[in-house]
Amino acid sequence: MSSNNNVTGTVAILGGTGFHISRIFLTEYRKEFPVVRITTRDPSSAKAQQLANLGAKLYKTSDSFDDVLSGVDVVVNALPTFISEEAKKELLAAIVRAGPKVYFLSEFGDDWRQNDFEGYEHAEWGRKRVILANTQAALRGTQTKIISVYTGNFAGWFFLPALGIDIEKNVYSPLGPASLRIAVTHEDDIARSVARLAILSLDPATASTVPNHVRISGQNVSYEEIRDAVARVKGVPKGEIKSYDLDEYKKNLKANPSNFIMDFVRALIGEGKVDWSDSNANELVNPGQSLWKWKTVEDFLRSQ
Ligand SMILES: NC(=O)c1ccc[n+]([C@@H]2O[C@H](COP(=O)([O-])OP(=O)(O)OC[C@H]3O[C@@H](n4cnc5c(N)ncnc54)[C@H](OP(=O)(O)O)[C@@H]3O)[C@@H](O)[C@H]2O)c1
Repeated sequence: MSSNNNVTGTVAILGGTGFHISRIFLTEYRKEFPVVRITTRDPSSAKAQQLANLGAKLYKTSDSFDDVLSGVDVVVNALPTFISEEAKKELLAAIVRAGPKVYFLSEFGDDWRQNDFEGYEHAEWGRKRVILANTQAALRGTQTKIISVYTGNFAGWFFLPALGIDIEKNVYSPLGPASLRIAVTHEDDIARSVARLAILSLDPATASTVPNHVRISGQNVSYEEIRDAVARVKGVPKGEIKSYDLDEYKKNLKANPSNFIMDFVRALIGEGKVDWSDSNANELVNPGQSLWKWKTVEDFLRSQ
């Protein structure tokens, strides 16, 4: 495989003041992406200014998307999916006009293609389904490659009682055995994966190796392993594991649908659908961990 040495491009990161994507492009992938454009509603905010100081070019989200997208090679959409329908339409039309080589959708979560919550699925996934379908329809027959990157949970959105991971009480509650595994990826590693996928896609020698749907999982960690990591890091006794029944949980969720997406993710974990140990593209983006070492939940806990 080519070393992708000569790849360079311009990238636009929409909603780029959100999680760590912009900072990693600006610091670790600047050679490949000398121009990093970011949209923000408030260019004077501390976050936007920090990124400007690293060299980002700031664009106001309320201005025409044509400006930020003009001449870009890569677009990373990191906006929340609940932006107005009008803004979504304007953005998609601007993407079609700009014709970037690669367009990353705002996914970065669970691989909802395998969901089984008929009639009560969380609205976030409904929005993502519609965005994907509309984007595919609008870009059909063009040269723009659409990439959906699924990452499991962010490390920063992981230690949650809603997922059955209560590190304050030191109690771990899988919907099934404690060996159930959960894909979790540190936000910095998600950003690195996106940069690598962009580079691989821009290089004609490797472009065809990049699928449209990509699962990344920095770690696939079990409830038992999380419990043990917490004990090591916090110096507490190994916590209690209390298993619950998956079918009962899903029946309850159906009867009382929750607004919190993690209540649904917990069921996906119970179904074994978030164990991506054997179905991820980690090797594609970071062969043999030669480019970075994937951060573990234990690394994350130690950094807190
Ligand atoms: N897997 C996980 O655990 C996990 C966790 C969180 C998010 N995600 C996913 O990551 C993606 C991004 O979500 P996020 O939570 O990171 O987004 P976010 O932080 O809410 O938004 C990203 C940026 O978009 C801008 N923004 C926020 N609300 C906006 C609005 N109504 N209109 C226009 N701009 C707005 C903000 O920048 P300015 O204020 O500078 O304009 C913000 O910094 C989503 O697809 C989400 O599902 C996954």
